[in-house]
Amino acid sequence: MEEKEKQIREKIKTLVKEFWQAKQSAGKFVPGKTRVQYSGSMMDERELNEVVEATLNGWFGLGPKARAFETKLSEFIGVNSCLLTNSGSSSNLLAVAALTSPQLGEKRLKPGDEVITVACTFPTTLNPILQHGLVPVFLDVELGTYNLLAEKLGKAIGGKTKAIMFAHTLGNPHDMNEIMDFAKERGLYVIEDNCDALGSEVHGKKTGSFGHYSTLSFYPAHQITIGEGGAVVTNDRQLAKLAESFRNWGRACWCTGDERSPLGACGMRFAFKVDGVPYDHKYMYSNIGYNLKPTEINAAMGVPQMEKLPKFIEARRKNHAFLHSELQKFEDRLILHETFEGIGAKPSWFAYAITVREPSAGLTRDGLVKFLEAKNIETRPLFAGNILHQPAYQGIKCRVAEKLANSDKILRDTLMVGVYPGLDQEKLSYIADGIGEFMAKA
Ligand SMILES: Cc1ncc(COP(=O)(O)O)c(C=O)c1O
Repeated sequence: MEEKEKQIREKIKTLVKEFWQAKQSAGKFVPGKTRVQYSGSMMDERELNEVVEATLNGWFGLGPKARAFETKLSEFIGVNSCLLTNSGSSSNLLAVAALTSPQLGEKRLKPGDEVITVACTFPTTLNPILQHGLVPVFLDVELGTYNLLAEKLGKAIGGKTKAIMFAHTLGNPHDMNEIMDFAKERGLYVIEDNCDALGSEVHGKKTGSFGHYSTLSFYPAHQITIGEGGAVVTNDRQLAKLAESFRNWGRACWCTGDERSPLGACGMRFAFKVDGVPYDHKYMYSNIGYNLKPTEINAAMGVPQMEKLPKFIEARRKNHAFLHSELQKFEDRLILHETFEGIGAKPSWFAYAITVREPSAGLTRDGLVKFLEAKNIETRPLFAGNILHQPAYQGIKCRVAEKLANSDKILRDTLMVGVYPGLDQEKLSYIADGIGEFMAKA
């Protein structure tokens, strides 16, 4: 690098640090005035400087910073392969799309095949199933864990069942050994939507390392952020190649663009034919794909975020445990947020979920939400609730395998508050006291 360029880069770096520190000095917590967010990005001058450096490097497509982030993610989750995307929703789309590839032969998902999932869901965990002409088969979730009970999978199985797809709700792990055993016996694919659960563990392993594919989101609400972004991970080499093909326009070639040789990564760029015509492998398409790549600028935030991740997970656990202990006294009236017992669940929590047990005139979800929001404490419902009640899903082709009573209740009676690392003790106590104040009058 030219000496002059090096000096300017150093100056910019120092200025970015100064700028960040100046920006942070404002604002003390004022109860009722300061917004107590339910989530938010946790970054500092390091992420900002990585973004600036990626910009100064002048190549905005995926590059070395993205690859370093992918490697860190694979190592952390304990899988062979990680592919960055531009969102968690794109990752879910990609995982389902890749399983429809003709390259999987008879094992591919075809229109009309059934996919077992849950009714209380995030929309883009379900949408790729519908978008590929597959038929969702809905099960209910449990109250308190908001997850699927693995022993109920048998209720949903049918002659056309080919896959199971679900999210580890709010970071809470499913019983993955039982789900994988069920799937293996019947030759089903499993897609773990791990978007809310980066860092969660079950049976001594990370969530996201069990299924055929698992997905991640790096939107700022999640455990780490790159602004907008996501990933698809897998342990299966063929599935890794398929995901890459579908992400990159459906192309057959897996060159990254960095190859020195004009003959590409495989060294055989000009040895292929399209319908008998010699053709450049870079422009040969083996799947009907998309372009779902993020930019190097977004990906640049990944490595510093990964280095902070263990601390973020610890803070989320501590904050969740604090709210859990503070809310024990209302357990007769509120369903508190729990894990499944006996599976070694160690969630990397996304939020704290609360369900009103028996709504009454004074105690409703709506009442609690409005009370907390008036105090500037952010709340959210549990995603779509029973998604079958949402306007977009009226009349979809699906099968409902059991009564969805809990999902209906979640739509009516569940809310969540934050546990993200940006909540210090003062803010957490403010949330707990706010709930306590409402409950005292309810
Ligand atoms: C369970 C789950 N899946 C998928 C997504 C989609 O992620 P993104 O916002 O990155 O598209 C989210 C978003 O919060 C989510 O909570």
